[in-house]
Amino acid sequence: MCGSEQKVILHLLDIPPAMTRLEGLEMELVDAAFPLLTGVVATSDLEVACRNVDIAVLVGGFPRGPGMERKDLMAKNAPIFGPQGAMLEKVASKDVKILVVANPANTNAWLVSQGAPNIPKANITAMTRLDHNRAVGQLAALAQVDHNVVKDVIIWGNHSATQYPDVNHGTIGGRPILEILSDTKLREANFIKVVQQRGKAVIEKRGASSALSAGHSACDHVRNWLLGTPGDSWVSMGVFSDGNSYDIPEGLVYSFPVRCRNGKWERVEGLPINAESRKLMDATAQELVEEQQDAMHVLSP
Ligand code: LMR
Repeated sequence: MCGSEQKVILHLLDIPPAMTRLEGLEMELVDAAFPLLTGVVATSDLEVACRNVDIAVLVGGFPRGPGMERKDLMAKNAPIFGPQGAMLEKVASKDVKILVVANPANTNAWLVSQGAPNIPKANITAMTRLDHNRAVGQLAALAQVDHNVVKDVIIWGNHSATQYPDVNHGTIGGRPILEILSDTKLREANFIKVVQQRGKAVIEKRGASSALSAGHSACDHVRNWLLGTPGDSWVSMGVFSDGNSYDIPEGLVYSFPVRCRNGKWERVEGLPINAESRKLMDATAQELVEEQQDAMHVLSP
């Protein structure tokens, strides 16, 4: 995650009833003798977990269960992510980088920022890299090519079923995706819906949500953020909108195409947006507005 030379100390946080399992995991980490792992701190104390960390990956949230309203979901997540943000602000490294994985990831990242008003918004991100990688995987399969030659897809918006996987700017082997895979072929393959619904489809098969691909995507997200995106290519990250890019309302944590250099991400600006894309980008923004309103209502009823 941090590069092939960077040694790491892992801080693992869980709730008290899960400590025995966490201790088992700590034992396994020691037993694996990972060459770059120089320490493990397993704790249920938030302050111990957050102290001096440089990178915080927030994976523990309260996912939506059957019959749960979005408001109920926010009511469960606000007491997790606000305090985690506040503690990171208090005791983590001054330039801590935060990646929120737990769902609803974008709005949980917004909740982190509410608890941590002094952590720069640019340091608080949500994971849509899993969706980005899923789009790459689907396109590679459809075009029957190695996934390494699929570049510059975009996930716009929320890490949810309203996200918009956009192929209009991407390439396969250096040629526009839409030249290799026609619009009709993509529609027949239901490309957008397959990517939007992939998490649900994995849950249906596994009886549990994506773990390997989510973990791998979290590593991809952080590695690119720290070490840069290759060449001129970009990846998708959920980041705070400043209101100036692509007409996305300010203050939403929205997935954009970004390039990373020197430990900072930068939005890819000025891509032409057609009418169909506009509609889909706005629909996912609207969902985020509503999630944020629900979260605000939980914070100040
Ligand atoms: C995923 O995209 O696989 C997960 O976010 C799905 C989930 O609800 O855990």
